Amino acid sequence: MKADEHMTESTKTEVGSYFISNYPPFSQWSGDQLGEVTTALAAPPANVPLGLYLHIPFCRKRCKFCYFKVFTDKNAPEVERYLAALSHEIELVSQLPVMGDRPFQFVYFGGGTPSFLSPKQLTRLVDRLRANISWDQAEEVTFECEPGTLTEAKIKRLSDLGVTRLSLGVEHFDDTILRENGRAHESGEIYKSWPWIQAAGFQNVNIDLIAGMVGDSDATWQEAVGKTLDLAPDSVTIYQMELPFNTVYSKDILGNKIETPVADWPQKRAWVDYAFDQLALVGYTVSSAYTMVKNPEAVNFSYRDNLWRGSDLLATGIASFGHVSGVHYQNQPEWNDYCGTLENGALPLNRALRPTDHQRLIREMILQLKRGYLEAGYFQSKFGVDIFDHWRNLWTEYESEGWAILSDGRVELTRQGLLRVDGLLPAFFEPEHRDVRYT
Ligand SMILES: C[S@@+](CC[C@H](N)C(=O)[O-])C[C@H]1O[C@@H](n2cnc3c(N)ncnc32)[C@H](O)[C@@H]1O
Ligand code: SF4
Repeated sequence: MKADEHMTESTKTEVGSYFISNYPPFSQWSGDQLGEVTTALAAPPANVPLGLYLHIPFCRKRCKFCYFKVFTDKNAPEVERYLAALSHEIELVSQLPVMGDRPFQFVYFGGGTPSFLSPKQLTRLVDRLRANISWDQAEEVTFECEPGTLTEAKIKRLSDLGVTRLSLGVEHFDDTILRENGRAHESGEIYKSWPWIQAAGFQNVNIDLIAGMVGDSDATWQEAVGKTLDLAPDSVTIYQMELPFNTVYSKDILGNKIETPVADWPQKRAWVDYAFDQLALVGYTVSSAYTMVKNPEAVNFSYRDNLWRGSDLLATGIASFGHVSGVHYQNQPEWNDYCGTLENGALPLNRALRPTDHQRLIREMILQLKRGYLEAGYFQSKFGVDIFDHWRNLWTEYESEGWAILSDGRVELTRQGLLRVDGLLPAFFEPEHRDVRYT
């Protein structure tokens, strides 16, 4: 089968497009395999790094393009119920044999919007967490923020709590576009919070942008890139707008049978290409298909790089995805199930899958390809497979399309390959997973 027969992207941005973040597809994980994860959690660990993910599922507004598990209608007592459940989950997790004596090497507060929490809620949460765990030895503690939720006091608190990497969901600087796409913040809030962020002295401040927000044009995109350069963050992450099934836009398109309002894939690639060129001109270097960094010596991406090399990730919070001792798992995705299970003293596990060795090889290879290169020797020694030989036809095809360059034990993606990397990955899937729903 040729790669473009099962690329996720046709030219149009269709509903159902997705960002590849794991393998086998989430739709293949099931409650039947929960025994695999409970066994793995109850056994001593393999010798791999350990990370912690905490999901904070609250947002001020639901962005029309967003597919994450978020709530916009929870009041203070409900938030408190959630934080109590999350704290209890951390307590249970901290007692699991799979922890061994491993420190957390990386910690990630993701969402949703972790910065939705007030300084008081944050301090209380962290105090409860610290009663059971420590992240003092972590090389990276990431905290995702939405600009309009930030105050000077909150940012200071994050710095005191040990956050090393603050990631700011800017997405765009044009207020008409931000409003049209349902963002809760406007550009004024980005500029208001920026000096506070700078003053707090985080090791790494990242800005997220999205190429292809509804209403964007060459002129507005170029302006957004210029404004990003003016802020000079340590890294810039640019996603090409996806339309998974459960977004507001996707429902509008399917329900009202309207044309997709999102720019097509060649246009989005051209916008990211432009941004990468502009960032390169002022000294940024490519760190992955999505991210450019100002100083690669100073900024590392512990969460990303460890995860892409098969580390353990303990998942906490509603609907979170984790991986322990070779087993994928996800927590319960419904509010009452998640909180209720923890209130009854049990871990809120929902579904799992133990990938085969070959599936673990595919997973690591497709995730690492997002960095823009692969080292064949790594896969040979870890999985005993020559990835060039095994996927010879595909590499030859990608090379002849001008997307990859093969040399001496190394695959390197060209800029054109990097810009479409998510479309190149399903061709590596096993045949039975190429046409199934991803999530
Ligand atoms: C959890 S959010 C970041 C923190 C905060 N919730 C915010 O939005 O400011 C993670 C990022 O995912 C990206 N994102 C969300 N939905 C997307 C979509 N449909 N296509 C591409 N990127 C998307 C956005 O860039 C967003 O900043
Ligand atoms: S993009 Fe961020 S702020 Fe918007 S709904 Fe999703 S998680 Fe919330």
